[in-house]
Amino acid sequence: MVEFYELWVVIVSLLVLKLCHWIYQWSNPKCSGKLPPGSMGFPIIGETFEFMKPHDALRFSTFLKERLLRHGPLFRTSLHGNKVIISTDNELNIKIAKTYRIPGFTKSITQLFGENNLFLQSKEFHNHVRNLTFQLLGSQSLKLRIIEDIDLLARKHMQEGARNGYLDVKETTSKILIECLSKKVMGEMEPEAAKELALCWRFFPSGWFRFTVNLPGTGVYRLMKARQRMMKILKETVMKKRASGEEFGEFFKTIFTENEGGKESIMNVEKAVDYIYTFFLIANETTPRILAATVKLISQNPQVMQELQREHAGILGSRTEKEAGLTWEDYKSMTFTHMVINESLRITTTVPTVLRLLDHDIQVGDYTIPEGWTFMGYPSVHFNPEKYDDPLEFNPWRWKGKDLGAIVSKNFTPFGAGLRLCVGADFAKLLMTMFIHHLCRYRFVFMIV
Ligand code: HEM
Repeated sequence: MVEFYELWVVIVSLLVLKLCHWIYQWSNPKCSGKLPPGSMGFPIIGETFEFMKPHDALRFSTFLKERLLRHGPLFRTSLHGNKVIISTDNELNIKIAKTYRIPGFTKSITQLFGENNLFLQSKEFHNHVRNLTFQLLGSQSLKLRIIEDIDLLARKHMQEGARNGYLDVKETTSKILIECLSKKVMGEMEPEAAKELALCWRFFPSGWFRFTVNLPGTGVYRLMKARQRMMKILKETVMKKRASGEEFGEFFKTIFTENEGGKESIMNVEKAVDYIYTFFLIANETTPRILAATVKLISQNPQVMQELQREHAGILGSRTEKEAGLTWEDYKSMTFTHMVINESLRITTTVPTVLRLLDHDIQVGDYTIPEGWTFMGYPSVHFNPEKYDDPLEFNPWRWKGKDLGAIVSKNFTPFGAGLRLCVGADFAKLLMTMFIHHLCRYRFVFMIV
């Protein structure tokens, strides 16, 4: 009896010892040099719950602020089971963005994008899809075709909103995005399929990347279901069009003509559908939220509103045909609106814009960031008083005389930087500008419901 009891004591002691060792290892991860300061939180959970707490979109989270005070601009943590380095050092963020290519996504985010998504594959595939995207969403394409579609869609939705007496900025932006991108992708679709595709959009929860566990009842679960439905609709439409010889939208035309001339394409229907879905997912996560914040900021600043109304009334006033579509020259002439958008992008970027998985160690001063860690770079430079006077103030005039066409500079990185700089930046800016132009034709009051 005593022997049995002693055996149990030994087993339990060994287990406790093993557990303590594991906890010690969790808190003190292996590193060939000195790790940046910080805490790895509880085993497995890490500091995920503190990180996920909702925060004001115009301020950095309490999670970030507290740790910056405690550890400085570079610290370690653990989120969603990954070892993470958080940096607010702008130079380091840009260096990492230019040097490392692998996106720092958790397994569940990768699943949302599709395991075979070309944006997540080798350097060669990634370069190829980026080039392809620039053909489709680059300034030449925006100028020749997309501007007209966005103009018509923004006008249509704004008129509808005026008739209803209210307009949901986020929802309207989502609708404009999906209608514009679907047309570019598929060409004309059967009305039923187009309607169903648009409905899938509603299941895209905002902030999916902050909580990426796929459990029934969660936003990610609904998103995965919507993804399956969207993939099915897109695939069926492609197959039908192929069979009937009907014309594709520009995206698919470009993608599939790659096969011609003996050149082997890396695209097939599956990959093409994943590729298109990436735009739907990223575009919808970013643009509606930022545009809604921009409209809020405008409505809270009467001087800004006045100046915008003056600019857009001027553009409308200079026309002979009042309802004619906007031209690229009109778009380029909206200088104050571009200043408002830059200022809004600066002040609303309170989330990390450089996310990479490090595939080799990097030395930063005295510290070593080991291979296999995720790097999250926050653009705290947007709030640096040495770069921007009174940085918490929404002041579009600070952009006067600056290069308003640039989507990235050393002190401005809302669209990230380097090898994964956002490919939809110019498209997003065009959409935001058109929306504001049409909004300024109406009198409105902004309300949060
Ligand atoms: C205001 C709106 C937007 C913001 C703030 C934004 C921001 C970003 C950021 C921060 C990145 C990551 C860059 C990096 O890791 O260095 C990114 C990547 C990306 N964005 Fe955007 N984005 C916006 C709109 C759009 C739109 C409308 C589309 C598509 C139509 C789009 C498509 C993409 C894609 C495909 C990538 C991945 C690029 C790659 O991995 O090579 N984005 N975006």
